Amino acid sequence: MGRTRRAAGRRVDSIAKWLLQFRIIAIPAGIIASSNLAWSLVSRTDRIRTNRLKERILNDEVPKHVSIIMDGNRRFSWHRKIETNIGHEKGKEKLKEVMDWVLDLKIPYLSVYALSTENINERSQKELDSLYELYCNGLNEMSEDPKIHNMKVKVQAVGRLEMLPNDVRNAIKNIEEKTKDYSEFLFTVCLAYGGREEIVDAVRKVAEEHSKGEIKLEEIDTNKISSKLYTANLPDPDLVIRTSGEERISNFLLWQIAYSELHFTDVHWPSFSKQDLYEAIDSYQRRKRRYGS
Ligand code: FPP
Ligand code: MG
Repeated sequence: MGRTRRAAGRRVDSIAKWLLQFRIIAIPAGIIASSNLAWSLVSRTDRIRTNRLKERILNDEVPKHVSIIMDGNRRFSWHRKIETNIGHEKGKEKLKEVMDWVLDLKIPYLSVYALSTENINERSQKELDSLYELYCNGLNEMSEDPKIHNMKVKVQAVGRLEMLPNDVRNAIKNIEEKTKDYSEFLFTVCLAYGGREEIVDAVRKVAEEHSKGEIKLEEIDTNKISSKLYTANLPDPDLVIRTSGEERISNFLLWQIAYSELHFTDVHWPSFSKQDLYEAIDSYQRRKRRYGS
């Protein structure tokens, strides 16, 4: 059915392209296509499509934990010939929007990859400084956001936080303190984060317990390692989304994603839309239905 519809769509497209070579059609068609009326029609149709998709995904099991690798801020800027930090700024605004969409779907756990240990070693000091400023502003804005308090969202940051400057660590302390008693939703920001580093840190903690005689060698199992991860207080992700066309994991939640569904989309993070989020969830649900779990 879907294939027949797509083939029909391609046929209509090729007829339209053929017709457009005739100026008598192409000129008025161009005027109509760039008019406000056409744009409002397109955005109305998009809204209807998005709402329909939302209804569909809410009729099925929504993932409990969604993790996002927010990639493509710089490419977004380069394509538009704007400064890199504007792309990051738009990325920060996008994160707030996505949080609203996730809360609206009642997804209890959201985690995002905001800065990797590799980023700290590879990016210029200028870019890092503007990113650090962004994290401070973003976290401070979130700590004052009535939605965070009304919806009782606990916010935490995980990673090798000691690698971050003091003002970022203070902003983290501030939001963690203000939201520490909430338990309806948990929003985790991975900062100065690396999946391998996290596993190393967990193994060190277990080794220390073993050397103190608190745990026997044969008691060390996957549950023990999981309990020492930075993310010990949240379930493994059901769905990992990566934007911007790269199809790799880049050291994100390596241990935790052993059984997660992965969804890659070409859109750059600042352009990620509600429809894109719903499509990712829809694809997760379709895959789950296919193998019946
Ligand atoms: C990846 O795109 C993005 C980052 C390294 C930074 C992400 C940060 C934010 C979205 C702001 C988060 C804000 C808070 C408050 C947590 P990139 O720079 O790798 O872009 P590219 O892939 O096009 O090079
Ligand atoms: Mg990138």
